Amino acid sequence: MATEDQKDYVRIFDTTLRDGEQCPGAAMTENEKLEIAAQLATMKVDIIEAGFPISSPVQFQAVERIARETPGPIIAALARAMRADIESASKALLPAKKRRIHTFIASSPIHMKFKLGKEPKEVLKMAIEAVKLCREFVDDVEFSPEDATRSEPEFLRELCEAVIDAGATTINIPDTVGYTTPAEYGNLFKFLITNVRGAEKAIFSAHCHNDLGLATANSLAAVQNGARQIECTINGIGERAGNTAMEEVVMAMKTRKDTLGIQTRIKTEEIARASYIVKTITGMLVQPNKAIVGANAFAHESGIHQDGVIKHRETYEIMKPETVGLSSNRMVLGRHSGRAGFKDRIVKLGFSPQTEELEAAYQRFLEIADRKKEIYDEDIRALFSDETRKSTGDRYQLEGFTVSTGTKSTPTAGVRISIDGHIREESATGDGPVDAIYRAIQKTTGMDPDVSRLVISPVTEGQDAMAEASVTLEYKGERVVGKGSSTDIIEACSRAYISALNRL
Ligand code: KIV
Ligand code: ZN
Repeated sequence: MATEDQKDYVRIFDTTLRDGEQCPGAAMTENEKLEIAAQLATMKVDIIEAGFPISSPVQFQAVERIARETPGPIIAALARAMRADIESASKALLPAKKRRIHTFIASSPIHMKFKLGKEPKEVLKMAIEAVKLCREFVDDVEFSPEDATRSEPEFLRELCEAVIDAGATTINIPDTVGYTTPAEYGNLFKFLITNVRGAEKAIFSAHCHNDLGLATANSLAAVQNGARQIECTINGIGERAGNTAMEEVVMAMKTRKDTLGIQTRIKTEEIARASYIVKTITGMLVQPNKAIVGANAFAHESGIHQDGVIKHRETYEIMKPETVGLSSNRMVLGRHSGRAGFKDRIVKLGFSPQTEELEAAYQRFLEIADRKKEIYDEDIRALFSDETRKSTGDRYQLEGFTVSTGTKSTPTAGVRISIDGHIREESATGDGPVDAIYRAIQKTTGMDPDVSRLVISPVTEGQDAMAEASVTLEYKGERVVGKGSSTDIIEACSRAYISALNRL
């Protein structure tokens, strides 16, 4: 049973690895999921929804590994209100110290009729049976009536009451299609918390999608009306327009404690790093003007604003960049910086480098420093991530390349790639330099996956900025994302391609 004290803060239930991963292009490898889970644990997320184990053996294995290797948070797994799903979730969660099964069934008339083909009575029965079955495996059970915001409030009340009776300890009210508005969603929580018999035995939870750009506002309205858990993702990734962005709700509660009056337990200084990790792993870029984690979120461009901030920071700044883990004075390294200074920076950026990784990253740092005068934290983060993404088992290594292009010449590229330690070289022409080099890599490796997405973004500003490339390849039903960075865009694209090939 939830005590008053337990209800006195807002639990953060992160679903980056489940609802977040469901969006196109965000598929992650097992090791990437573990890396994200570790960061979520570092930032003191209360619950990590690690995946949907029944959906595939790969999902099952990832949930099991997160359960085993991520101490700290409660690990949750999703299950439809069906025996096979629940058994699979409970099995995958076994290695976790604290585990939760999250079971769901649709409750709106449109979903019950057209998706499930079931009467409300049958749905009610399935929900009760599912929760009871979950309780045979775990004490911590979350129930979600899917499409709750388009459900009949009275049916929702009956359903919530029945599942609490059956043993559910968290009741999540999903706005599955991102349809609700703050006042309406807030009122729904007030109605349920007041009218569901036994409501005090459960934590009520908000789960919003951002189709109307209201996910953050809706989640906060739920909190103001008694919700004590928010389900969210880093950078707001998720189905369609995404889920509630964790950084937004957390920082709203921290910055506006005067009006919201309640806090989370998130270590906000880890937000920027979490955002970076999710961005680079998924290849889903963050729009520059995105609240909290966008590149411009703390940048003051207009003269009047700059002048104000210099005179008194709070004239135009409601949050300090340091609060979300951004350093206000970015350290600069250059070609004369030694290994010790480089290592010190890497550690300050939150990495724990192994000796070999550190040496490889340092060598790349020297290469980059030859081309770029000043190297910022963001550059170091990008190049270090590049090196750590490589592994000694990687088949393909880019040893070198040449490119020639121009308005009146056919773009031509040559590559030198080490394959299992043997050097091979090929050249090719293409529509542009990137196309040419990708064709040359394909000839060399004998693999010709489809490039379904290529995104190039600058890491820092200026003409000599480092660029980060993220490429999504599709090959024989598999989709992988590769990343690469360099001051040379073509090199960044090539590194990203080779990194993706290694994953295939
Ligand atoms: O949006 C939704 O309804 C969900 C449920 C599975 C909780 O993600
Ligand atoms: Zn969802």
